[in-house]
Amino acid sequence: MEFVRGVVFVSVIVVLVSLGLSNVEGRTHFHKDIMSLNIGISVSESPDYPPDPNDPRETPSEPCIFNVMSFGAVGDGSTDDTDAFRSAWKEACAVESGVLLAPADYEFTITSTIFSGPCNPGIVFQLDGVLMPPDGPDCWPEGDSKKQWLVFYRVDGMTLTGSGTIEGNGEKWWELPCKPHKGPHGTTLPGPCESPVLIRFFMSSNVVITGLQIQNSPQFHMKFDGCDGVQIEDLSISTPALSPNTDGIHIENTKSVGIYNSFIANGDDCISIGTGCSDVNIENITCEHSHGISIGSLGVQNSHACVSNITVRDVFIKDSDNGVRIKTWQGGTGSVTGITFDNIQMENVRNCIILDQYYCLSKGCRNQTSAVYVRDVSYRNIKGTYDVRNPPIHFACSDTVPCTNITLSEVELLPAEGELVDDPFCWNTYGSQETLTIPPIDCLQEGEPQTISELSSYTC
Ligand SMILES: *[C@@H]1O[C@H](CO)[C@@H](O)[C@H](O)[C@H]1NC(C)=O
Ligand SMILES: *[C@@H]1O[C@H](CO)[C@@H](O)[C@H](O)[C@H]1NC(C)=O
Ligand SMILES: *[C@@H]1O[C@H](CO)[C@@H](O)[C@H](O)[C@H]1NC(C)=O
Ligand SMILES: *[C@@H]1O[C@H](CO)[C@@H](O)[C@H](O)[C@H]1NC(C)=O
Repeated sequence: MEFVRGVVFVSVIVVLVSLGLSNVEGRTHFHKDIMSLNIGISVSESPDYPPDPNDPRETPSEPCIFNVMSFGAVGDGSTDDTDAFRSAWKEACAVESGVLLAPADYEFTITSTIFSGPCNPGIVFQLDGVLMPPDGPDCWPEGDSKKQWLVFYRVDGMTLTGSGTIEGNGEKWWELPCKPHKGPHGTTLPGPCESPVLIRFFMSSNVVITGLQIQNSPQFHMKFDGCDGVQIEDLSISTPALSPNTDGIHIENTKSVGIYNSFIANGDDCISIGTGCSDVNIENITCEHSHGISIGSLGVQNSHACVSNITVRDVFIKDSDNGVRIKTWQGGTGSVTGITFDNIQMENVRNCIILDQYYCLSKGCRNQTSAVYVRDVSYRNIKGTYDVRNPPIHFACSDTVPCTNITLSEVELLPAEGELVDDPFCWNTYGSQETLTIPPIDCLQEGEPQTISELSSYTC
């Protein structure tokens, strides 16, 4: 309900702004526009002094628009508009339902910025134009974090929306010699290889992100960590297939997440779910030339990892290196429980269904006695075609910690072209098929394993 109201309210603003009724150009930064939604499309210009908080017309339901142009933004694609955005944010944050507006037909460049709260409730960051970071590592200001660009920190009840584009200018970052095979003669140079996450929400709650086009991120496009209550809808993320580490949406230590009706084409995981996530619902997503939807990797360096109650439904995965994947390292503890993959269409996908408890980025990982315990995973209605270079179904569970209650029903996967080379694979995997799968799978073990040692290390 709150959400629906937000959308209606935002679209009213879009209409008003596109009608050109909100003329704030050339004003100093004390000025702002106040719109009254109660009287439809009339826009009242504010006088040249800050609003009186005791003025009865300043009811909390009236959004105050803080147009970055009024704060000195130029929007010509090259001028540094960081200060204008920071000032507009500060003022929008200080009122209830404040709107930072970056209008259409402008290209804003800003440097790495933390937009922090706490703010008054209902703050909106509305991007109708284009917003970009500096173009590549050489233009990145010395002293700015290279780990992140747009950061929203400690905001509660914020909306990031608009008809605009966040252009990540990622190309020069993808070409760094420390990126896979980008060094001399196709090598990969060692050493730190920091590239900024484009948009990060950190320690925030009840955030809504809708409508934007997000593209060409240097690294992850969106990252949520330590958040509670995230609603993502109608996003389009697009980046070339050969762009390293450009996950579409990554969440970790984040609860109550909905990701809906979005298109993601990129060069790494379409959506990745890290440790500490629960109650996540993903629906109606298209993933193209990505690494699919991933839970993990979990348990790296003997860490304790917990993921639970994740539903992935009505997803189309195309020309991808993986379909639906769960990956854990040897030596972790904790558990992955209550995972449902339902109605997933695959087209030319390698590793359509993969559960790998031997995840390792080098060749030097040893087998260990502990692992993140994976149980109660259901694969329902998974259909389409796979790339024959890998078996379409691969369950590699830990030697000492078997996976349990893995269920398959209506799984029908056919070769995209050529013939099946490898049969479905299972190792130490307990579960059942409710209907016969295509290709047939006969390696699931029935019932429950005898013992799962030291149960306490798998509790979350
Ligand atoms: C699914 O998402 C797409 C955007 O990728 C949207 O166009 C379509 O309307 C959505 N379908 C439903 C049933 O909401
Ligand atoms: C699982 O997560 C959904 C949100 O995706 C939530 O509505 C539901 O209550 C959760 N179930 C449990 C048992 O916590
Ligand atoms: C680890 O265990 C798996 C399954 O038993 C086995 O296939 C693999 O060769 C082992 N790896 C090492 C490095 O011992
Ligand atoms: C097996 O997993 C399903 C979810 O996929 C769950 O509903 C069911 O209760 C689990 N069964 C057992 C015996 O734990």
